[in-house]
Amino acid sequence: MEQLIPIASKLQDVLGAVGQNTQLDLPQIVVVGGQSSGKSSVLEGIVGRSFLPRGTGIVTRRPLILTLVNTRTPGYEHSQESSENQDPNSDSDDVGVEWGEFVHMPGRKFHSFQQIRVEIVRETDRLTGSNKGISNDPISLKIYSPHVLALTLVDLPGITKVPVGDQPENIEEQIQEMLLEFISNPNAIILAVTAANTDVANSDALRMAKAVDPYGNRTIGVLTKCDLMDPGTDASDVLLNRVYPLRRGYIGTVNRGQKDINEDLSIRDGLSKEEQFFSNHPVYSTDRNLMEKCGTKILAKNLNNILMHHIRDVLPDVKNRITTMMTDVTLELDALGVPGQKSRNTLGGTLLGLLSKFATNFASIIDGKALVELF
Ligand code: GDP
Ligand code: NA
Ligand code: MG
Repeated sequence: MEQLIPIASKLQDVLGAVGQNTQLDLPQIVVVGGQSSGKSSVLEGIVGRSFLPRGTGIVTRRPLILTLVNTRTPGYEHSQESSENQDPNSDSDDVGVEWGEFVHMPGRKFHSFQQIRVEIVRETDRLTGSNKGISNDPISLKIYSPHVLALTLVDLPGITKVPVGDQPENIEEQIQEMLLEFISNPNAIILAVTAANTDVANSDALRMAKAVDPYGNRTIGVLTKCDLMDPGTDASDVLLNRVYPLRRGYIGTVNRGQKDINEDLSIRDGLSKEEQFFSNHPVYSTDRNLMEKCGTKILAKNLNNILMHHIRDVLPDVKNRITTMMTDVTLELDALGVPGQKSRNTLGGTLLGLLSKFATNFASIIDGKALVELF
């Protein structure tokens, strides 16, 4: 998602100059799906960092709101500590120029992803006990990095049917209510996660996404665990949108399995393993249309596109605001007896110039190939 960073921050500059309460309100990315379907794994793959607890059983038991803060954005107050040239693709456990901070522990900087995972587990247990209880009180984590797009992602507990441990009898209802609260936000992009080795007709993720987004405008189907399908079967029909069609379709993924996690396989190695899986697969690799539906990188690219279109949609509004501002200034100057024409060369003019330059660059990116390299 690196390509979007300079674009979003330039636009943020323009917005900042036009007025204070004009944040570039990028959509939130929210995962929904059955327990252990691979939601946390998918989010990690998109962000390209290993910081979420994952595993079999109910691991995610409170919503995690993850805010990515770009430390190169002007106005970002800690910018003096950014940018010793760290390899943006490095995913060693050393956070380096990146760090995490929890809202429940203000001021404490976490410099290792391992420590971040431990703290998520600790803070989950603090509120819910260690015996599988859940809570809809979210944990808020901010990741500061010069390499991230200022985005918010939400990891959620999975849908379950049967109470285990300290869970109440109505656990299914409780979880569904919590999920609905997050996915009904019209500004949320829903990643509806279903494991490829289960039947999409039984997918709670798809059912819930459909309930809040009936036209599928903001839902992407994600089929995880494509590596775990029965030999001789494959996900082609679903991926080609022939089974349970979604307006934005499906992406198949292979995330790191439990063995990979136990062996500390890095995100980067996980992503190449995924690429190899699809490009060596007898069915997926032989169909161009299918290959366009396979892999975490393609999922990230799709998200990028949605974000791009979102930015494009807000541009006319930004332009209107600048024009209004210019008119106001011109009128004020006229009232003071200063010739209005002069003011056109001042702030408003500069901003409009900036915006139109931005729009031109943006157009060349949105139509072009600059989105191909994502990580
Ligand atoms: P969540 O409960 O939906 O958040 O699922 P997790 O991300 O915690 O994953 C549950 C388990 O499935 C973990 O042991 C993961 O390693 C494993 N897993 C997730 N995605 C895949 C995948 O694509 N392939 C394989 N083999 N295992 C996966
Ligand atoms: Na799990
Ligand atoms: Mg999880």
